[in-house]
Amino acid sequence: MTLTDVRANDDDLVAAHYEPLVRQARRNYRTGEGFRAACAEDVDPIFLHRFLIEFCSLGVQMTEPVDGWIRRAGERCTELGLGELGAALVRHADHEAGHHEMMIADTRTLVDGWNADGHPTLDADQLIARPATPGVQAYIDLHEATIASDTPWGQLGIEYEIELLSVTAGPVLMANVAKVCGPERLASLSFLEDHIEIDAGHTVFNRRQLEALLGDHLHMADALGSAGTAALASHSAFIDDCAAGARR
Ligand SMILES: [Fe+2]
Ligand SMILES: [Fe+2]
Repeated sequence: MTLTDVRANDDDLVAAHYEPLVRQARRNYRTGEGFRAACAEDVDPIFLHRFLIEFCSLGVQMTEPVDGWIRRAGERCTELGLGELGAALVRHADHEAGHHEMMIADTRTLVDGWNADGHPTLDADQLIARPATPGVQAYIDLHEATIASDTPWGQLGIEYEIELLSVTAGPVLMANVAKVCGPERLASLSFLEDHIEIDAGHTVFNRRQLEALLGDHLHMADALGSAGTAALASHSAFIDDCAAGARR
């Protein structure tokens, strides 16, 4: 899926007033050190395997709170008079509950494969229980700050960018894993595989919400763009942390 697929038409408000604000951050994400390392054609398969273990184990902390973050942001929007957006966010929250379970299962499968290959033994539970890396913490802090702020609708910008990553960056990473590690490795990436599919629908939904919000309140574009930009920057920092962890 590309950005064009989710675009209803060329003169929409999202394209005109929101997307210019996140364009540079999207570019930075694709050229980020960690993302480029994981998606390089000549990446070492052992590094890529270890990177995926970092991605899934650290990702649990970023995925488990998601339904709570979206619900609380929705409730804050309702408090501030944006009842329609608030209700839509609360509806979306239900669709995110429990997705960290996939990250946990994937960590276990990847670690089992790693240990079976004879690499220095890893423990999935220990990896999952680690303290947050700087990138993970920045991602968590961004959500909490957005909810507490007087522009909680920024959550929609965060959600749009992150779920869009599933359908734009996700397939690039998956294709490289299949090529470098072999297609059988994809079986241990249920979170990524599922999200490439379900976030296509979520992205269309988010874009519709963005369009409606900007239609009524064009001035909100700035807060949405700042939140979307910060979401991409912190997720990119998380991906860099995964690459750094895989090299250790
Ligand atoms: Fe999800
Ligand atoms: Fe989603």
